[in-house]
Amino acid sequence: MIHRRLLRPVLFRLDPERAHTVAMGGLAALAHLAPVGGLIERRLRVDDPRLRQDLFGLAFGNPVGLAAGFDKQAHAVPVWANLGFGFTEVGTVTAQPQPGNPKPRVFRLPEDRAVINRLGFNSDGAQVVANRLAAWEETGRAHRIPLGVNIGKTKVAEDAGADYVSTFTQLARYADYVAVNVSSPNTPGLRDLQERDALERLITRLAAANRVGGLDKPILVKIAPDLDPGALEAIVGIARDHGVNGLIVSNTTVGRSGATSPLAGEAGGMSGVPLRELADDVLRRAHAVAGGLPIIGVGGIFSAEDAWRKILVGASLVQVYTGFVYEGLGLARRINEDLLLLMEQAGVTSLAQVIGQG
Ligand code: FNR
Repeated sequence: MIHRRLLRPVLFRLDPERAHTVAMGGLAALAHLAPVGGLIERRLRVDDPRLRQDLFGLAFGNPVGLAAGFDKQAHAVPVWANLGFGFTEVGTVTAQPQPGNPKPRVFRLPEDRAVINRLGFNSDGAQVVANRLAAWEETGRAHRIPLGVNIGKTKVAEDAGADYVSTFTQLARYADYVAVNVSSPNTPGLRDLQERDALERLITRLAAANRVGGLDKPILVKIAPDLDPGALEAIVGIARDHGVNGLIVSNTTVGRSGATSPLAGEAGGMSGVPLRELADDVLRRAHAVAGGLPIIGVGGIFSAEDAWRKILVGASLVQVYTGFVYEGLGLARRINEDLLLLMEQAGVTSLAQVIGQG
């Protein structure tokens, strides 16, 4: 309500990246005001045992997470619990600080309820983000919901593996899980890391780093929706063979199917409604060969119905980004409340009863 009547009209008048910076500024300020956050949380958190799940050794109070890219620099870590999310994922973080691509690099496609971005991993770098996460830990409010840290490759790094390992080593200790992003379309060569040998090498190195010092963090791999069936099967096979704990399906698409906006010709990755069916298809195919490996479904979720469909085709958890931009602060609550209604209609009392049953 407040979002639709007040915040969205104001924010949507600003350039999209500017609007994001303004919104994040407000959320970061709120993250420091624990009592106010607590009051908001009383309105937005849906606490119901039917939404709870234990996955990767972590307790998820509800299945709706904030997708990577929104709180890239970990400025607002505790606020996501206040807004009713079941988990959050900061990043993508790169080993070295880097500015990303020239602006403008984020475009709203309101006709399509979509976004195109070519940010290119603007990152404060692993050291700065590690310090920020350490400071959040000191507040005792960093892990009220599971906290994922999403890592990617520094643009100029020649040895991708060493670069990921550096970021992993600096950040994993603050994470409840680490998401390995090999699927952003905006870093040249990044998606080649989804290719069989490259992915195998990368996962092997990260798994070794994970054993050092007994870190032993759950590792998830985030994949693109633009993979042909053979490539997808190969990735899932490697993930299963090398002890990866889960998959995140999917990142933004380089395709423009379903987009009608005049801005659809902008380069970058597209998210939101036009991504939904494609992401659902890839999720369904991944689930079919995943052998029980949990999958986080992401792409075009604006409502509980969208989340429900993802769960039916194989998601254990879901994430939102573009839906949050369009629907606003109450989105997690609305999805959770309406998911409970959908569960009642289906006659089930746990999400596990419906995952992959559609
Ligand atoms: C993203 N996304 C993203 N993903 C990721 O792994 N690392 C990142 O840094 C970013 N950055 C980012 C910026 C912007 C502006 C957008 C819109 C998206 C992708 C995001 O996490 C998600 O996978 C897709 O956006 C699909 O979900 P939605 O947006 O359709 O809910």
